[in-house]
Amino acid sequence: MFDSDLIEKVYGQMSERVKKARQKLNRPLTYAEKILYSHLYETQPLETFKRGGDYVDFAPDRVAMQDATAQMALLQFMNSGKDTTAVPSTVHCDHLIQAQVEGKTDLSVSRNANKEVFDFLESVSNKYGIGFWKPGAGIIHQVVLENYAFPGGMMIGTDSHTPNAGGLGMIAIGVGGADAVDVMAGMPWELKMPKLIGVKLTGKLNGWTAPKDIILKVAGILSVKGGTGAIIEYFGEGAESLSATGKGTICNMGAEVGATTSIFAFDESMQRYLKATGREKVAEMAGKMKDILSPDPEIYENPEKYYDQLIEINLSELEPHLNGPFTPDLATPVSKMKETAKENGWPLDVSVGLIGSCTNSSYEDISRAASIAKQAVDKGLKAKSEFTITPGSEQVRYTIERDGYIGIFEQMGGKVFANACGPCIGQWARPGADKNEKNTIVHSFNRNFSKRNDGNPNTHAFVTSPELVTAIAISGRLDFDPINDTLTNEKGEEVKLDAPTGFELPVKGFDVKDAGYQNPAEDGSKVEVSVAPDSDRLQLLEPFDPWDGKNITGAKLLIKALGKCTTDHISMAGPWLRFRGHLDNISNNLLIGAENAYNNESNNVKNQLTGEYGKVPDVQRDYKEKNIPTVIVGDHNYGEGSSREHAAMEPRHLGVRAVIVKSFARIHETNLKKQGMLALTFDNENDYGLIQEDDTFNFVDLNEFAPGKQLSVEVVHADGSKDSVKVNHTYNEQQIKWFKAGSALNLIRKQNKN
Ligand code: F3S
Repeated sequence: MFDSDLIEKVYGQMSERVKKARQKLNRPLTYAEKILYSHLYETQPLETFKRGGDYVDFAPDRVAMQDATAQMALLQFMNSGKDTTAVPSTVHCDHLIQAQVEGKTDLSVSRNANKEVFDFLESVSNKYGIGFWKPGAGIIHQVVLENYAFPGGMMIGTDSHTPNAGGLGMIAIGVGGADAVDVMAGMPWELKMPKLIGVKLTGKLNGWTAPKDIILKVAGILSVKGGTGAIIEYFGEGAESLSATGKGTICNMGAEVGATTSIFAFDESMQRYLKATGREKVAEMAGKMKDILSPDPEIYENPEKYYDQLIEINLSELEPHLNGPFTPDLATPVSKMKETAKENGWPLDVSVGLIGSCTNSSYEDISRAASIAKQAVDKGLKAKSEFTITPGSEQVRYTIERDGYIGIFEQMGGKVFANACGPCIGQWARPGADKNEKNTIVHSFNRNFSKRNDGNPNTHAFVTSPELVTAIAISGRLDFDPINDTLTNEKGEEVKLDAPTGFELPVKGFDVKDAGYQNPAEDGSKVEVSVAPDSDRLQLLEPFDPWDGKNITGAKLLIKALGKCTTDHISMAGPWLRFRGHLDNISNNLLIGAENAYNNESNNVKNQLTGEYGKVPDVQRDYKEKNIPTVIVGDHNYGEGSSREHAAMEPRHLGVRAVIVKSFARIHETNLKKQGMLALTFDNENDYGLIQEDDTFNFVDLNEFAPGKQLSVEVVHADGSKDSVKVNHTYNEQQIKWFKAGSALNLIRKQNKN
């Protein structure tokens, strides 16, 4: 299952490539730069690339895909004209599994409910040489960390929390399915050379503070946009004191500040984790490359000279944090929660505490949370909130069951869900959520956007460490501060919870009976992949039309989205996950979560042809039927959140031609480009205010579309008055070819035919 030949090849060429890059740049290199410069695509000349400016072609070592995004990625790959994937690739069945009763029951129900999709993913994997992780095997990022991530490697994954593998010193980047298709087809994978944010960790975590608190603190400092276009590189004595899985948690949640990825340099914690997960050979190989797998020494001496931004955090002084509600960057230290919650009117009773997920279900996390649960049992405390556990992999679940932790959680009333995403992605059939009652939950996941967990917009979700979730679930109060507060037990005694304790790795080693992995067929040519023509879950793709060479004119405004418009607002998850492999059906959720700037309602926009208001997808389908192009207008950081390309394919499929916003989230902007859409930003942000509900857009100079050249759009208002709006873009030559061909895939297929 584990590919040590691949790692040998990467390490075999890395020293030489790093040396050449150092000479070219004529300065010491950070760790991220060493990996980036040693993964240039074969046709990419070595240059001094401008961070945040130059597009560079890379050759990642691996691809990982989760079931919800893999469907569209593989449907696209099937159209690429290739027989097998060019790099080792894997599919992980995790997002489609609902959490309702408990793990085993839910898994069996979900297997049946999604049989068609799982069978499709299994057969495509089998045919094209892709490793297949069955439903129940675990969550993509945990499985990747346990099996595939390696120091110095570079991978992409069709999920925004792919950076989790940075905990093992790998550059791992979340992308859309179309990017996965590029890499699997052996094409160069393009990325704007990221900027570098250095985070220097001094001191040492202690007491109740966990690795999660480091990223919660960083999120509070940087905000959800602060890491955009950058790699966050952690270093310092504090970094070395963290476990590899703790580092994974921090890198995982770098996605919440918009970072391209996050990374730690190779150290002994990684060596220990590699050995514990059966990769002694990799640990040994990496051990011999220590100098290459860390920044050059001068970087540590003078970090402000080499990073674009530098943050310093003293772990000895760091407090546990709770971030939320509704946004992961609203950071509140546990000692301030009493006053902050009161000021904001957040409900103080916590209905559910949830631990686990890809972010926080390492052996260390679970053992530390269990140490708190055990104290509750021993001290006669009953959990006041419901409590659930979502293990990240079957290996973790099997091992924590063997070591008695699941038993401890069950004694305090805990319920174990399947090794899958479940409540983290709206796949939580939470009883009563449809009543939309205001309530508070606390979890150790990474995201807490409105409706993300249970579909209820009034659920206030707070993100924190698993140990604090456990303590809060026992107390039942959001403002419980375990460092200073006491609890009353069944006998009426005042008791205090001691700080958590745990084990970095299982003393008896990891164990598992069936990890849930399936190798692909040796010869896939005879494997049949079938998609029923009447399926409502899967639909073979038709190529999008190429650009006709004319200016887009007479385009109607579909929606002007106000404020936060994440990919969850553009293409909602939850129940819609079932249509991820059927473009026409999933398009019925287009922008239904976005707030219309003119009436502050979601999924209610004006149809300019009838003057009536209707649901966004219905109004758009009406324009499409009449062959009328449309434009979406948005605010800052449009498309923040997940990497799902459905958020770009849906508007493309339904006939939207351009998205004009104040600023984009990186992955979504690229996804729009890949699907042949125009992704544009207002030159003057205030022009967003000029756009009115009945506006029509005429592009003036699209025939002169060129890198670095502004475009002009004439905006015609209902009273006949006009505004001329300048819009910017970040398309390079290649991306303009995608636009002209109708999509990046159209171009790949054409090249494969030639
Ligand atoms: Fe799954 Fe949530 Fe992680 S959806 S991959 S557990 S962020």
